[in-house]
Amino acid sequence: MEEKNVVLSKEGNIAVITINRPKALNALNTETLLELNNVIEAVELDDEVYAVILTGAGEKAFVAGADISEMKNMTVVEGRKFGKLGNKVFRRIENLEKPVIAALNGFTLGGGCELAMSCDIRIASTKAKFGQPEAGLGITPGFGGTQRMARLVGMGMAKELIFTGKMIDANEALRIGLVNSVFEPEKLMEEARALANSIALNAPIAVRLCKSAINRGIQCDIDTALMYETEVFGECFATEDQKEGMTAFVERRAKNFKNR
Ligand code: CAA
Repeated sequence: MEEKNVVLSKEGNIAVITINRPKALNALNTETLLELNNVIEAVELDDEVYAVILTGAGEKAFVAGADISEMKNMTVVEGRKFGKLGNKVFRRIENLEKPVIAALNGFTLGGGCELAMSCDIRIASTKAKFGQPEAGLGITPGFGGTQRMARLVGMGMAKELIFTGKMIDANEALRIGLVNSVFEPEKLMEEARALANSIALNAPIAVRLCKSAINRGIQCDIDTALMYETEVFGECFATEDQKEGMTAFVERRAKNFKNR
């Protein structure tokens, strides 16, 4: 069977996506980005998937960046095309109508850190290392790093990380808010699954609308953002799951959401 650079598996209502080029520390080449795009599309269309976990194969890396061997001889046109592809796929993850948890099991560098930042929640193993080393390679971060890093950890910290290209460990990533929590390596996937399952127990449409409201709202002024919140709040009352959630509460019974 053909070896895949991106593997999709399903566990109940959870999809696990694994970047699978461990010999190259899961570096993102064009082929891998295209496969990731296809897998995201499959997840997008699967109504049974309520939450997604994204991780890297092997012991060493989540993703050690965009593929340097592929980029080395790129022309301006090719560089732009490659950047556009990465940005398109990562934006698709950011806009995916399901929550995405990045389980960061090792090196999370360059395009890997950018991929992690396009996810909704990041958790890391104590072995993970983070950084945007691009300036040391003569380039800028090209898959969203110059934009999402500052939004996530603030402009000063983002500039320090990006200008120096230094690597930080998981505890420092936790301290600056780049990741939400840190676990021993052998516990990471268990914790990712527990987190995904605790989200998947809630009404999927409500979770989707929460993601949309947070992502959209952060980009605009507070009045526009609150108007959007009011819109999606109202929309919830058209769902069966709202009736079910509130009826179950009143009747003091377990709820049974149907994603409708
Ligand atoms: N691209 C291509 N191959 C990579 C890679 C990358 N980003 N990162 C690692 N590899 C390959 C290595 O070339 C090596 O392959 P070979 O065995 O065939 O030589 C293999 O993975 C193992 O790597 P190392 O031998 O280097 O492992 P190490 O433990 O000594 O070092 C590391 C680990 C510190 C992560 C080091 O591999 C490294 O610095 N990698 C590059 C990190 C980086 O600069 N990432 C940013 C890329 S640019 C980018 O991402 C642009 C963007 O924003 C879009």
